[in-house]
Amino acid sequence: MIELEGVSKTYAKSAKKAVDGLSLIIPNGKIFGFLGPNGAGKTTTIRLATGSLSPDEGRISIDGCSMAENPLEAKKKIGFVQDNPELFNRLKAHEYLDFIADVFGVPTGERRKAVEDYASRFELSDVLASSIGSLSRGMKQKLSIMASLIHDPPIWILDEPMVGLDPEAAFQLKEIMRERTLAGKCVFFSTHVMEVAEKVCDELAIIVVGRIVFSGSMTELKAQGGRDESLESLFLNLVDSERGEERP
Ligand SMILES: Nc1ncnc2c1ncn2[C@@H]1O[C@H](COP(=O)(O)OP(=O)(O)OP(=O)(O)O)[C@@H](O)[C@H]1O
Ligand SMILES: [Mg+2]
Repeated sequence: MIELEGVSKTYAKSAKKAVDGLSLIIPNGKIFGFLGPNGAGKTTTIRLATGSLSPDEGRISIDGCSMAENPLEAKKKIGFVQDNPELFNRLKAHEYLDFIADVFGVPTGERRKAVEDYASRFELSDVLASSIGSLSRGMKQKLSIMASLIHDPPIWILDEPMVGLDPEAAFQLKEIMRERTLAGKCVFFSTHVMEVAEKVCDELAIIVVGRIVFSGSMTELKAQGGRDESLESLFLNLVDSERGEERP
């Protein structure tokens, strides 16, 4: 479970809060989607939740472990896929996975099994011996997804993970998300794609200008709109009303 309580963050040299008094609970056992327009604060929230950024105010805890008081323990519980993964281009793919497994202290047998399993699912087995710099964008994305799972974390946080994936890889990603929630783990991911949110998420939160404007199930979200209102128009209306605009 991820708990964010009254979390705010203003970047240096910025006049406005990127995240503004945000409170959100992401439970275990549910695929939890995070939606919002560009610049709404999704990546900032995710970086705060993973401990890559520190909040100005508020509390963050990971399975009950405080990110401020016990950052190492909290971070060990997390697998994180960044929106723009910066990988080490000169390392071979398998060397990078070994490096990440070393960081998390994953025993040899377990890491080998995880690498074999995910490489086969993501059709990466043939490129494990290649240098990361020679991989395509989608292959790098799949590699960073694999690396995030190598220590089998209870909490999986992904920022725009579908970007760059082909349909087969996107399918595998959704399958893995479902397997993990069925095993009682936590899955939290951001997306711009409404169809993905609608098909994949059990619950979702919508953020606009740093504040949560909706958090709940898809059914609850739909109940806020008219009978035949699409998720897209509901989303756009929520965004507009938070920004104080009227949509014709
Ligand atoms: N490193 C930074 N320095 C200064 N301001 C930043 C920085 N990163 C983000 N911001 C600002 O913080 C706000 C939230 O940005 P954030 O990247 O969290 O949005 P986002 O919802 O992830 O957007 P997108 O959908 O485009 O990925 C924006 O106003 C953005 O300009
Ligand atoms: Mg972002």
